[in-house]
Amino acid sequence: MDAMNWRSTMGKFATGVTVITTVDEAGNPLGMTANAFTSLSLDPPMVLICVDNKSDTLTKLLASNKYGVNILADHQEPLSRAFARKGGSEKFEGIAYSTGETGVPVLSGCLVSVECIVKEAVQGGDHMILLGEGVRIHEEASVTEPLLFYRGKYEKLNGIGA
Ligand SMILES: Cc1cc2nc3c(=O)[nH]c(=O)nc-3n(C[C@H](O)[C@H](O)[C@H](O)COP(=O)(O)O)c2cc1C
Repeated sequence: MDAMNWRSTMGKFATGVTVITTVDEAGNPLGMTANAFTSLSLDPPMVLICVDNKSDTLTKLLASNKYGVNILADHQEPLSRAFARKGGSEKFEGIAYSTGETGVPVLSGCLVSVECIVKEAVQGGDHMILLGEGVRIHEEASVTEPLLFYRGKYEKLNGIGA
């Protein structure tokens, strides 16, 4: 049960990739890559994300009480890499996005983006679980293929899902 073994064991669960976005008090955009995302409830519509206690974005997420879940398309691996780095608003330099009705950044070119309001924050080991209620969906009909993450590597469906 060492950390390396645990990470590689959990990595055998194939996931999509998201960029979680929010804003600080001054309205500056912030974001981080996350695959610890799941659909939680249908009525009310809820999701959850798990954010490392060491993430700089976490304090901002807790302060703003809202987040965007941007589900990445297969061409957005560079975006995933950019938002997996440390740094504040400069992660958004050269990134196309709009501002959602809650104020969170909605990244362009994603499969779908959901704006959420934080309903509860629960400590889970070294991560914080943020339960969010979905309030607005943004979808680009022309984008159909997801970016995947499996065993520590980016993968694509290669047309299987089309
Ligand atoms: C594919 C992938 C998935 C990730 N999933 C998560 C996650 O679910 N939760 C998390 O806290 N960090 C996750 N990370 C790591 C963060 O993106 C990374 O630590 C980032 O630097 C945090 O930025 P921040 O400190 O500016 O918030 C993931 C990274 C990658 C590449």
